[in-house]
Amino acid sequence: MINVTHQFDKLYDRVDGMVASLPLPLKEHIYRTRDLARRLGKIHGVDDKRCALGALSHDLARHLEGSQLLIQSREKNIPINPYELDSPVLLHGPLAAVWLESELGCDDGEVVNSVRYHTTGRPCMTHIEKIVFIADKVEPEKLAANPELVLVADKMEVDLDEGILEYLKLRVRSTMQQKGVVHPLALETWNYLIQKE
Ligand SMILES: [Fe+2]
Ligand SMILES: [Fe+2]
Repeated sequence: MINVTHQFDKLYDRVDGMVASLPLPLKEHIYRTRDLARRLGKIHGVDDKRCALGALSHDLARHLEGSQLLIQSREKNIPINPYELDSPVLLHGPLAAVWLESELGCDDGEVVNSVRYHTTGRPCMTHIEKIVFIADKVEPEKLAANPELVLVADKMEVDLDEGILEYLKLRVRSTMQQKGVVHPLALETWNYLIQKE
């Protein structure tokens, strides 16, 4: 157990070191997301240290340009779908997940998937995935910038699924109003959670 804790702390510190070198606004967003993920973990009885690690790792590749994301994703044999080809920023989660798993040696599949799917969500998310997903969307600065998110923030404290549904409703509606493309995984997440109710 001591060894496992030591390994976790070492991994956490390595990720923390990588975050420290990121551009300031991104770094601050990551820390706010981590703090919220930790708090949500405590509220919902989910291991807050693993939530914090997922949140700390989620945007490790967010500073890369689209062309770099495509190049590095191809190098890592990450499957690239037409939505990602059209909008390579979608690859920053999958790429960071590969870094975390393959290069930093994280063998916690739930934490790795919380990074991989944090942008779109996916059906059947585990609690850690749900917490990293929603913490990223409703961290304090985003909440302050968008009063519509208050309802999401209120709901996520009581029920993670309700918070995610509220967020997806807002997001999908505004994407459609702007004639944007809704990622199929976001729609699948909505369908899965709404049918579960
Ligand atoms: Fe992200
Ligand atoms: Fe983020």
